[in-house]
Amino acid sequence: MARIFQKAIQLKSTLRYTQVSSTHRLALTNSPFTIATSHFYPSRCNTRNLTTKNAEGPKSSPPERLPFTRVTKEDLDFFRSILPGRTITDPDLLESSNVDWLKSVRGSSEVLLRPQTTAEVSQILRYCNSRNLAVNPQGGNTGLVGGSVPVYDEIILSTALMNKVLSFDHVSGIVTCQAGCVLESLSQYLEERDYIMPLDLGAKGSCHIGGNVATNAGGLRLLRYGSLRGTVLGLEVVFADGRVLDCLATLRKDNTGYDLKQLFIGSEGTLGVITAVSVLCPRKPKSVNVVFLGCGTFENLLKTFQLCRGMLGEILSAFEFLDSECMRLLNTHLKLSNPISDCPFYIVIETAGSDPNHDSEKLHNFLDEAMNAALVTDGTVATEESKIKALWSMRERVTEALTHDGFTYKYDISLPVELIYRLVLDMRQHLGDRARSVVGYGHVGDGNLHLNITSPAKDPALLAAIEPFVYEWTAQRRGSISAEHGLGLKKRNYIYYSKSSQAVTLMGDIKHMLDPKGILNPYKTLPDHLT
Ligand code: FAD
Ligand code: MLT
Ligand code: ZN
Repeated sequence: MARIFQKAIQLKSTLRYTQVSSTHRLALTNSPFTIATSHFYPSRCNTRNLTTKNAEGPKSSPPERLPFTRVTKEDLDFFRSILPGRTITDPDLLESSNVDWLKSVRGSSEVLLRPQTTAEVSQILRYCNSRNLAVNPQGGNTGLVGGSVPVYDEIILSTALMNKVLSFDHVSGIVTCQAGCVLESLSQYLEERDYIMPLDLGAKGSCHIGGNVATNAGGLRLLRYGSLRGTVLGLEVVFADGRVLDCLATLRKDNTGYDLKQLFIGSEGTLGVITAVSVLCPRKPKSVNVVFLGCGTFENLLKTFQLCRGMLGEILSAFEFLDSECMRLLNTHLKLSNPISDCPFYIVIETAGSDPNHDSEKLHNFLDEAMNAALVTDGTVATEESKIKALWSMRERVTEALTHDGFTYKYDISLPVELIYRLVLDMRQHLGDRARSVVGYGHVGDGNLHLNITSPAKDPALLAAIEPFVYEWTAQRRGSISAEHGLGLKKRNYIYYSKSSQAVTLMGDIKHMLDPKGILNPYKTLPDHLT
């Protein structure tokens, strides 16, 4: 690593490669849309599917309460009989489960149920279905689209006490666990056995693997290990009527008919409650390096990405970015100081491999090349765990910094990678001085932009300026209006910007087949006329 530093200095004296540590860390770690109306439906939006209520355009506000039964004393008696001491009705204890992580959605549930087993989840759902009681499945409550909390008085069914690892196969690296295992705990469990989770995200200390699967969370390692749609090998799911679907396979190959587990991955608690998961885990890498680089233009950032893919190849495990506005918020609100000189864009690159010397040489050659081509203007490299964490926090803690900047309007867009930052620039121009901050960060390797806009307080006029602009912009470029966070409560009525009316109708049919009374996570994911 020292060699990289010296060479960098020799090659371009204006570049400053800081050697953070020389100790290698052992492991761990469809045609373009035309706008159909003067407002906001893309051409494939089938307006016949829209009710009179939303015919003026999609709405993110909740619909009226559906006619579910209200919880009675007899219902509470039943829950207490099957979950003694785990039927929570104290409003103080319920508070944090009624409010989402962003503190932007608040329900008014009066019951929180904490089952420990699949059999208990089955009993709860069978009862709720028979009584027409609505249920909100909840994991770590870190969801960002208002899907994890009740909208009205839905019963909260928490997986917090379903946190046991059920089995681990040392040869195949397949872990099977209950849905309430916290991602970070699962990671620790695996690291002790020389494996890692294929998934990593800023909310790892709180989110549950069941919640990750229910949202099909992407995160920081998707570039390397792919999405949960590939690494989840099996699921156990309880249907709305209490029946248990055992698809908890631990096989890499199984073409015996439809791959039913895929229906539940990303279904956001609307089709069933995930109670157990089996995941294929990669071996713990023997060498991990993290590089924090500064870039003068987004064009150069993209060229750096191309170069990086070519030169780092199989050891590249993450390629993330944040802009200078994110850095300003990290400095201002979290007192995190920039580890390099001020630049318009910052890149976080992680390599994970099995041979420190080999990885170091590859990284060194890449950095030389990136500097010689003047693609990057400054940078620092970390190989020691604490320094790696410090560099990663510059990317992972942007979400937290934003919460201190004001009310945050969050957009999670996937686009052809060369287009992702143009949306930030166009939005800044479109909003002028109406927003406090307009920032861009995200997963470059996945073509996934996180566009966030803050204002001193909730501002309906600002929101009206952002939406539908952001969705039209995305749909016109054939992007997705939700790359990884899901639709939840907030984005459900914008689904037609990314899905055809036939696809949405089929989603409604599947929902109706699996949950005919619609008790599971009502008002979420599906547009209002199908919920
Ligand atoms: P919750 O928030 O509790 O629930 C999310 C949804 O899943 C809800 O609709 C809920 O009803 C449903 N659900 C939860 N558990 C179950 C279950 N067992 N069965 C059925 N349905 C269930 N997301 C990304 O994709 N990539 C990121 O990089 C990322 N980073 C984040 C960083 C921060 C700081 C925060 C706060 C959030 C981040 N998220 C990210 C968003 C979030 O989707 C993930 O944190 C996580 O996948 C949610 O898991 P959870 O256990 O908290 O689920
Ligand atoms: C991230 O990549 O940091 C997460 O998806 C959270 C966010 O979008 O703020
Ligand atoms: Zn993300």
